[in-house]
Amino acid sequence: MDDKKKVIFSGIQPSGELTIGNYLGAIKNWVKLQDQYDCFFCVVDLHAITVRQVPADLRRRTLELLAIYIAAGIDPDKNTLFIQSHVPAHSEAAWLLNCNSYMGELGRMTQYKDKSQKMGDSIIAGLFNYPVLMAADILLYNTDLVPVGKDQTQHLELARDIAQRFNNTYSPTFVIPEGYIPEEGAKIMSLQEPTKKMSKSDDNQNSFILLLDPPEVIRKKVSRAVTDGIGVVNYTDEQPGVKNLINIICAIKGLKPEEVLENYKGKGYAELKSDVAETLISELAPLQEKVKSILSDKTYLEDIYRKGADKANYIANKTLRKMQKKIGFIPR
Ligand code: TRP
Repeated sequence: MDDKKKVIFSGIQPSGELTIGNYLGAIKNWVKLQDQYDCFFCVVDLHAITVRQVPADLRRRTLELLAIYIAAGIDPDKNTLFIQSHVPAHSEAAWLLNCNSYMGELGRMTQYKDKSQKMGDSIIAGLFNYPVLMAADILLYNTDLVPVGKDQTQHLELARDIAQRFNNTYSPTFVIPEGYIPEEGAKIMSLQEPTKKMSKSDDNQNSFILLLDPPEVIRKKVSRAVTDGIGVVNYTDEQPGVKNLINIICAIKGLKPEEVLENYKGKGYAELKSDVAETLISELAPLQEKVKSILSDKTYLEDIYRKGADKANYIANKTLRKMQKKIGFIPR
């Protein structure tokens, strides 16, 4: 491992099927980071259980997500790919950090406020402490940069505050991480309400495309995408539906909106939609094939997550020992 490379850490929860938003907005960009940075990409199963999970589904999705990382082009030899629960230091560091965090700052997290509102009187305590676990994830690896979407910037800010506080209370221990905003950060919006982010938890199935949706489903969902009555293909905020469709092509092909627009002079929404569907299919079909073949080779996958856990455990345990020592625990 090259010590001079900056460290990147990111993770996705295996709590639902991935949408093309997760793929184009996150995973596809991670692929570009692997040569320049020392990357840790985690399947955060400990985070996923802050909402009740069906055990069999959690198992399937955890392996599926790992297979998706690899199929998307994240090289398991260049990067550290691992499953969060395979590194016990995450849970332990989270406890230590919980004892250095305040109820007030956790209660201010907008994601907590939104999610807990829907839980009535049965708010899971882990949901409240979730950002502290996320801070542990990041801080255990001396992370310099964290690629996250807008919805996670508040959690990252909190991780920085907790790190700073620990450093001030004891002595310098943690690197203070920064957000990494990719140059062409693709934010994919709902196909039905294009001013809202595409989300797998949307009630309307037509509003999102799943990474593992078959071609006929992709064609159907794209053809039903909401546009507008203007009828001309433009890239403006007045036409958010059309803009979103153009963004999908841009994200897949690595093009600028102007370059895509050139192809639609004198053409209508039907052509644009058909191109979006076919562009998606040609990107996703080979990916889906690879995911299938990786999942069918259990030993290959096991080998990857075991090696990943070994590398991650080594680094995480070093940081954890430092934390324990500074707090005043007796070394064993
Ligand atoms: N909370 C993140 C999300 O839901 C997932 C996550 C957990 C994460 N730990 C992390 C992201 C550490 C970046 C770094 O999207």
